[in-house]
Amino acid sequence: MTTLQDAPQQVAGVPRHRLEGGAKVSGAARYAAEYPLDGLVHAWPVLADIASGRITAVDEAAVTGMAGVLGVLWHGNAPRLQEPDTQMLNQLQDDVVHFRGEVVALVVATTPEQAREAAARLPVTFVARDHAVELREDDPDAYVPEEVNAGFPSVSEIGDPDGAFAASPVRFEATYATPGLHNNPMEMHATTAAYVDGLLTVYDSNQGGSGVQRSLAAALGLPPEHVRVVTEHIGGGFGSKGTARPNVVLAAMATMTHGVPVRLVLTRQHEFALVGYRTPTISTFRLGADRDGRLRSITHEVTVQTSRHEEFVEQAAVPTRHMYAAPDRRTRHHAVPLDVPIPSWMRAPGECPGMYALESAMDELAAELSLDPIELRIRNEPEVDPEEGTPFSSRHLVDCLRRGAELFGWDERAPRPRAMLDGRELVGLGVASSIYPAMVMPASASATATPDGRFRIAINATDIGTGGRTALAVLAAEVLGVGVDAVDLHIGHSDLPEAGVAGGSSGTSSWGWAVHKACRSLLDEIAGRGGRVDAPITVDASTADDIQARPELARFAFGAQFVEARVDVDTGEIRVPRILGVFAAGRIVNPITARSQFLGGMTMGLGMALMEHGEMDPAFGDYANHDLASYHVPVCADVRDMQAHWLDERDDDLNPMGTKGIGEIGIVGTAAAVTNAVFHATGIRVRSLPVLPEDML
Ligand code: MOS
Repeated sequence: MTTLQDAPQQVAGVPRHRLEGGAKVSGAARYAAEYPLDGLVHAWPVLADIASGRITAVDEAAVTGMAGVLGVLWHGNAPRLQEPDTQMLNQLQDDVVHFRGEVVALVVATTPEQAREAAARLPVTFVARDHAVELREDDPDAYVPEEVNAGFPSVSEIGDPDGAFAASPVRFEATYATPGLHNNPMEMHATTAAYVDGLLTVYDSNQGGSGVQRSLAAALGLPPEHVRVVTEHIGGGFGSKGTARPNVVLAAMATMTHGVPVRLVLTRQHEFALVGYRTPTISTFRLGADRDGRLRSITHEVTVQTSRHEEFVEQAAVPTRHMYAAPDRRTRHHAVPLDVPIPSWMRAPGECPGMYALESAMDELAAELSLDPIELRIRNEPEVDPEEGTPFSSRHLVDCLRRGAELFGWDERAPRPRAMLDGRELVGLGVASSIYPAMVMPASASATATPDGRFRIAINATDIGTGGRTALAVLAAEVLGVGVDAVDLHIGHSDLPEAGVAGGSSGTSSWGWAVHKACRSLLDEIAGRGGRVDAPITVDASTADDIQARPELARFAFGAQFVEARVDVDTGEIRVPRILGVFAAGRIVNPITARSQFLGGMTMGLGMALMEHGEMDPAFGDYANHDLASYHVPVCADVRDMQAHWLDERDDDLNPMGTKGIGEIGIVGTAAAVTNAVFHATGIRVRSLPVLPEDML
């Protein structure tokens, strides 16, 4: 029997190793491609090698006699899909090729090696059309969409930004470019699918099983209750697993066709075209200011690419709307449709490339005004959201900047660039601000008390490796007033109460709220029974109405990154010995995994600044460097002294736990902080990422 007399224990905020850590390091934790099913066979995709055109023939007979081959799915024989909610899922339905790397056939065979061999030998012929794959600001097809990703209006305009700019005593204008950037989670996109007696089960690597269940059911014309999605352990996603991707629908089509379980694991190379990537961006800023640095006018025009196949417009100018005070302002997005793979989410879509540009422009303005870059930001700190006029639930950007300056030793920074030389290295210190929305999405959860004093919490949350599972157990234990050991948490299965995606840095806040509410109701229910649990008691909770009822406030996490860069005067080699971030991101549930999230974000920002570069090949019409040998990301040796700090921020206007979200803000300002440090070291301003040694010479 459970009683509620136990004193509540402080469980959140205590450093805690992840609950599934032992299972992960011992190999007991199962990932999508590791479920052993009887009679399992394997699928391998065949990709288009033209960027635009038509398939004229798929000669399946040429490979169907090969050892182990069960069959070839292509548009001539694949199951008809009903209503795919995205073009990403509209697989093998017609003869049109929309981009190079699109799936044109799927070979199914007994072993992966047999499937791969047959896929390599499958004759597919095409007739190619001319393609356009290079993003240009002056592309005649550029258009201003109604909305951009996440439903934001494409354009915002307040006052007379052009007039105010023209009338400003100090005017700064510059254009910044970021390249295509590719999601490279540790675990490949993979699905093991089995269709038995009308029930489709997919063990799928994704960031949100409830959404994948809905999309898959709609595409296949199955009732949602006939589709089960299992996502027990996921090895990262960064957004590339935020919705159902081609692997899951292809594996489902194959198992429904052949009547045996099918596994499909994409390779690293496949992923560069198939699962979504960050669009290249071209941002033009115009900043008009008084001589003391107070901004009068901000305009941010950004051009991004989208795929002709499906519109996805990254909201890169949206963060500018919330950052700095200036009475007259405009932000606008321009999209260029190209014959390219479908862009999609990659860690902090919008904020990441947009803030690289804004925080570079602010650094340049500070240099022009001979003003400390932190001071410039403080002078432009708004009282309320600069565009919406709504109060912030909390905004501790200035505190992050000040605390970071103190921790980093900012006062040792020479005011002028190219003034700090150490041996053969030029040394520079740079800073940038970060912002990321503190979102919540509706979720449902159930909580059960059992007579043995234990609690069962159920919610279809997805732990993509961030520590979400542990955070939820901690939050449940905190409400229930028990130790984490007394909580049995069930996540990662679509039979569990529906919940949203591990994305938008909203997982812990969204799922945690539902868990919090279910646990509170359970306590009320138990109290109503005199505190006795004679038989299992279950309550369900949903947060949809609670989220609707929140007051209108601007809810964001903030942060500041500080970087030391060293540039070899002879070779131009750029090293980053120190990165320090300070974040105001609400209550931190688990310092161990939170730190990992911040460090991971900043590491990705370092890669964006100095290494990562999707190289579009205009002749072939595809990203040429589609593996980790040629698409470089930081390795351990690139990451030296990296520190994550956070303020003890209390914000009661978010959700009952006071959490904001930490998955994405780490990356947001980092690239600008690195390139600002490189400028401070060398006096060389590079406005196109990545910054390379040859740019320094
Ligand atoms: Mo993240 S791009 O919201 O998965």
